[in-house]
Amino acid sequence: MTAISADLNPYDILRWYLESGVDETMGEEPLDRYATTRRALESRAAAVPPPAPQAQRQPRPHAEPMAAPPGALSASALPGTAAHLAAGCADLQALRHAMEGFEGLQLKQAASSTVFGDGNPESAVMCIGEAPGQEEDRRGLPFVGPSGKLLDRMLGSIGLDRSTCYITNVVPWRPPANRKPTPDEVAVCMPFLTRHIELVDPQVLILLGGASAAAVLAKADGINRLRGRWFEFNSPGLPRPIPALATFHPAYLLRTPEAKRDAWRDLLMIRRRMDAVRH
Ligand code: URA
Repeated sequence: MTAISADLNPYDILRWYLESGVDETMGEEPLDRYATTRRALESRAAAVPPPAPQAQRQPRPHAEPMAAPPGALSASALPGTAAHLAAGCADLQALRHAMEGFEGLQLKQAASSTVFGDGNPESAVMCIGEAPGQEEDRRGLPFVGPSGKLLDRMLGSIGLDRSTCYITNVVPWRPPANRKPTPDEVAVCMPFLTRHIELVDPQVLILLGGASAAAVLAKADGINRLRGRWFEFNSPGLPRPIPALATFHPAYLLRTPEAKRDAWRDLLMIRRRMDAVRH
C-alpha cells in the first residue's frame, strides 16, 4: 500500500481512502469473521429444539404447484392482479371494463387511453401488435397512426380490412416516448391478452413484430427467427390451439422497405391458411 504523507490532514486522508475504493472502516485488530459466523450458527442451532419425530414423518400438506405458463389465468390469483381480473371476464365488454379499471401498472397512469381493440371480434383473424403509439393513445384505437396505415394496406393485400379482422396489442397502454414495453410490463399484461384471445377465439393469429411474437409464443428468439413459421398458441380457455404466424411490425417495414418482400411471403402464408380453413 502507498505510504501516506505525514503533512496530510485527516480530511485528505479520508478522501484518499475513498478514492482508493475503501468503503468500510475496520478495527485495529484483525477479526476472524468466519469464526464469528460459525459461533453464531452454533449458538442458534443450540437454541432451536429438534423437530418432534411425529412432525418429521408427516408428509407436506401441499405439493409445490407447477410454475404457471406466461399469462396464465387464475381465479385464485391475488385479487386485483391481471390474472385474477381476466379470469373473471365472461365477455369482451367485461374484459375492457376490467382493463380500464386496472391499477397494477405504472404505464397506465401516464397513458390517456386504454387501447383495447378495433375491428370485428367475430372475424377469423386476430392481429396483435406491441403497444399503442401517440396517435393510438390519443384516439383510443390500435394501429391508427402511420404504421396503422401500412397495416391496413398489408391486410388489404390479402383481402382483409377492419370489418374482417380484429386488432389489439400486447400492452394496451402507451409506453412513454414510444419506448418498447419492458419484459415486466409485458408479463403484467399477458393475462389480459390471453383472455382477449380466448374470448375472440380466432382461426388465425397474426403477430406483428418481435415483441408480440416473443410474448404470445413465449419464445426468446428474435423476429428474424420467429417470422414466416407456423406456431400454435394454446391456453386452457381455448377449445383448441390457434395457429399463429409472426411477421415484421409495420413500423419496422416503414424504416426497412427491403423487408417488405419477406412480409409479403408471410401474408401469403396467412391467406393460404385462411383459404384452407374455409374449404
Ligand atoms: N404499434 C403497435 O404495436 N400498436 C399500435 O397500436 C400502434 C403502433
